[in-house]
Amino acid sequence: MADEVMRLEMKNISKSFGGVHALQNVSLSLRPGEVHALCGENGAGKSTLMKILSGAYSRDTGEIFIDGKPVNIKNPKDSVDHGVSIIYQEFASVPDLTVAENIFLNHVRGSKNVINWKQLNANAKELLDSLGFGQINPKSKVRELTVAYQQIVEICKALSTNCSILILDEPSAVLANAEIRQLFGILRKLRDEGKSIVYISHRLDEVFEICDRITVMKDGQNAGVVNTADVTEKQLVSMMIGRDLESYFPERESHIGDVIFEAKDIKAGKMVQGVSFKVHKGEVFGLAGLVGAGRTETVRAIFGADKMESGQVFINGQEIKHFSPRNSIGNGYALLPEDRKRHGVLLNLPILYNMTISCLPKFCSGGRIRKAEERKFGDKMVDALKIKIGDKMDNTSSLSGGNQQKVAVSKLIASDCHVYILDEPTRGVDVGAKIEIYKIINDIVAEGNAVIMISSEMPEVIGMCDRVAVMRNGKIAGELQKEEITEQNMIELSMGVNKV
Ligand SMILES: Nc1ncnc2c1ncn2[C@@H]1O[C@H](COP(=O)(O)OP(=O)(O)OP(=O)(O)O)[C@@H](O)[C@H]1O
Ligand SMILES: [Mg+2]
Repeated sequence: MADEVMRLEMKNISKSFGGVHALQNVSLSLRPGEVHALCGENGAGKSTLMKILSGAYSRDTGEIFIDGKPVNIKNPKDSVDHGVSIIYQEFASVPDLTVAENIFLNHVRGSKNVINWKQLNANAKELLDSLGFGQINPKSKVRELTVAYQQIVEICKALSTNCSILILDEPSAVLANAEIRQLFGILRKLRDEGKSIVYISHRLDEVFEICDRITVMKDGQNAGVVNTADVTEKQLVSMMIGRDLESYFPERESHIGDVIFEAKDIKAGKMVQGVSFKVHKGEVFGLAGLVGAGRTETVRAIFGADKMESGQVFINGQEIKHFSPRNSIGNGYALLPEDRKRHGVLLNLPILYNMTISCLPKFCSGGRIRKAEERKFGDKMVDALKIKIGDKMDNTSSLSGGNQQKVAVSKLIASDCHVYILDEPTRGVDVGAKIEIYKIINDIVAEGNAVIMISSEMPEVIGMCDRVAVMRNGKIAGELQKEEITEQNMIELSMGVNKV
């Protein structure tokens, strides 16, 4: 076989941040017209490798070739000029600009320094229509969109340049099934046009569905390249984590007790139109439904993060009178928010402070923080969740996406509540660490407390929940008991399909 010219070759790339060797002699090659997965645990170096390709980071050593020619990528512009387009894991959109402005941010067209707004909006509309997202208004502020739509805007932005290499760093983490299907349709079309796509995801079912080949990274190094058709999911997991994984969901014997939490006829805006449910001690209760069904809005209203118009909340039979996040935690229930970057962690604070910020009084006496105890708690969480960090006092922004999520989980656990509301708790978290989070959930309910879980990953809902309420159009469409929780039943309820 003649030597095939690769679309992209990254050879022996190394990168350190202070003492952290994020990448050591890592190589990656992409064929023209392939979807190539980059897999590995949280902190393995996937995003760093892609940021070197996109010019966001400079490399310490190594070479990059595009279509057989050496290229020197020193900044994001060099990368765009070489046909590389990237969708970052952490949103890079500007919330106060409109959809159209964000899409064309890097190459706003106009003449004589005057922007033709009409044209800009029309171009954005055309792009959104062509991708099947005509429902998004180009003139809306990005801040007003749901995270799923914000992600779609990012995708449009990446596609607004005529790229030959497209990088998607966990694009599906905030998308629901229908949108993922749409995204895959777009990716297949781009692949057939000969573009090369790097797809980073912790959802292995997606990797097996859409990717032709897989490069596995472990601890900043290459751990192998395989054709997707030649490996099983089990083999891939063991390449990623360096050992076999017996089961994705740790065993739990449910001991369901009395009602600990009740929400009655909650109304909040258009998305929450009279939601009622009860949760028992020792129970993992799932809130399922399509994106836009009102799950996040419901729990945010209950927690006091958004305004509740009417409704009642009871914890241990006591009615909650004033709703605010602080009161909620004081009353014994806490929320892990869906949007990590905006609500979950304070990126510019040290990792340790993030973990203890919601429960500082616990570590205080005589007006002082008991530093040693605070540090001990930090060590315990780093250990329990296997958080990959340099130092606990580093800024949280230096962590990989999945590790930031683990910090958000630790922060929640520190609050010592009785009811934990978890909105997409394992978003962006690798397979091994997911199990650690499931164990924490099991520990919470084993102590007689309760968990309310929102998850877009159906296997997770099926594997973890004792009971599920499926939401549709701002209301509970139906409830499923443990043995009834199947993908089919949840889809039927969430889409309003009536059983005969
Ligand atoms: N700006 C930075 N400063 C310091 N350390 C960093 C920085 N960016 C990344 N790192 C470190 O480099 C390592 C690799 O991180 P990277 O974000 O590439 O991981 P990842 O494979 O993308 O993980 P995830 O699946 O969680 O997104 C981690 O140890 C991370 O803490
Ligand atoms: Mg990453």
